[in-house]
Amino acid sequence: MLKENVSKLLNEQINKEMYSAYLYFDMANFYVNKGMNGFANWFHIQAKEEMDHALLFVKYLQNNGFEVALTAIAKPDKGYKDLREPLVEALKHEEYVTDSINQIYTEALKVSDYRTQEFLNWFVKEQGEEEKNATDLIIAYDLHGKPGLFALDHKLEDRKYSEPSLELD
Ligand code: FEO
Repeated sequence: MLKENVSKLLNEQINKEMYSAYLYFDMANFYVNKGMNGFANWFHIQAKEEMDHALLFVKYLQNNGFEVALTAIAKPDKGYKDLREPLVEALKHEEYVTDSINQIYTEALKVSDYRTQEFLNWFVKEQGEEEKNATDLIIAYDLHGKPGLFALDHKLEDRKYSEPSLELD
């Protein structure tokens, strides 16, 4: 049986992951409108991954007898002044999600909830990858500069979606 505070935070994380998906859909839309289909592809895949994350939290809670309560997803309201800004915002957002996962982990530690810690270990590692990917994309953007942006955009079209390695029945 999960402790109330831990399950409450896990339930809130579902909304944060779904908001992440919304945010990345919004960024993908921004790039589509700019004719940059590679960057749009990148963020479409990012959005799908976030929905996978949300579903993992749903399944984990349900597998532990918790009744999931879905809440409204906020509208992404960021406007972007240039092509680079969504990349910076994406990194900031991933850092925010990392903090959120760490907070749940801290609560699980406090009540000796080893099962939730074990579940969250995958996300701790995943957040390290998410932050690195977001950082690498900013670096790649800066290195390519304007003349190379078309080539970079083309390259990002090659990104393929893959399911999370964590599976829950
Ligand atoms: Fe689900 Fe990008 O964190």
